[in-house]
Amino acid sequence: MPRSAWGDLPQPVRDAVQEQVGAVAGLVPAPSGNHAHIAGTLRASSGPVFVKGARKEADRDGPEIWSLRNEARINPHVQPYAPRLLWTVEEAGWLLLGFEYVEARHADYTPGSPDLAVLTEVLEAFQAMAAPDAVVLQVERRWQPVLADVSAMAGGALLHADLNPANLLITPEGRACVVDWAFTSRGAAWVELALLIPWLLKAGHSPDQVARWSARFPSWAGTDPTAIDLLAWAFAESWRRRSSADPAVPWKAELAALGQQWADHRRARPPGR
Ligand SMILES: Nc1ncnc2c1ncn2[C@@H]1O[C@H](COP(=O)(O)OP(=O)(O)O)[C@@H](O)[C@H]1O
Ligand SMILES: [Mg+2]
Repeated sequence: MPRSAWGDLPQPVRDAVQEQVGAVAGLVPAPSGNHAHIAGTLRASSGPVFVKGARKEADRDGPEIWSLRNEARINPHVQPYAPRLLWTVEEAGWLLLGFEYVEARHADYTPGSPDLAVLTEVLEAFQAMAAPDAVVLQVERRWQPVLADVSAMAGGALLHADLNPANLLITPEGRACVVDWAFTSRGAAWVELALLIPWLLKAGHSPDQVARWSARFPSWAGTDPTAIDLLAWAFAESWRRRSSADPAVPWKAELAALGQQWADHRRARPPGR
């Protein structure tokens, strides 16, 4: 979806934002991501501010607005991992969230990268966190269209559920900062690891390496292997369906292929592992 520029926003929206941050000289678009209608760094007289926003559809909350509201609701519960939400502007059919700006780069998940240790630390912390009441999505519902029984994925852990390398920012001091809490859900803790696997495969890890890496987490090691097989299959099948419904979107085909690679590996595993 093409993203809007600062000048495309209606004047009342720009006025309301400038009440928060002072005069705005422009917006530097975010380098990645595609969920919000506008995303980037505002060059404001009070300093840089990261902004994400979406337009309502005929006064209704569309899925983008819903994701932003979800992200805003969760933000206070995931400090200090998430950049702090500073303000919200709801004006002239737009919802904008203003976040503390973080000077950082995207994580590198390639084998041997030092960022993998940072990722592991973040995951270990999240694995121990119960989802606060503000988290309303139930992760297992994602697979209801392809599975009769999704209870193996249900639970009360906090799952970011979208830890792709563009959502894990690394500051020059090596500190991790996790962004994009739009799909944060409650579920079984091992599901966070399962959802990360396609990104590790994409970065060049082999399925064997990924399997060894996941096994170090107690939630994974303690889960019935047939549940892990089931999700591997359901993930691949969901993306295969989405990709065949939308063949012009290359990232859907890519997720389907990565999911299939992992599902094939699970099918070939020796019994009991
Ligand atoms: N608080 C922030 N400060 C600086 N850059 C950010 C901040 N939040 C996100 N970004 C950058 O913007 C990109 C897109 O933001 P994200 O929240 O992931 O939105 P999307 O839903 O569009 O993926 C991130 O990958 C990151 O590069
Ligand atoms: Mg993102």
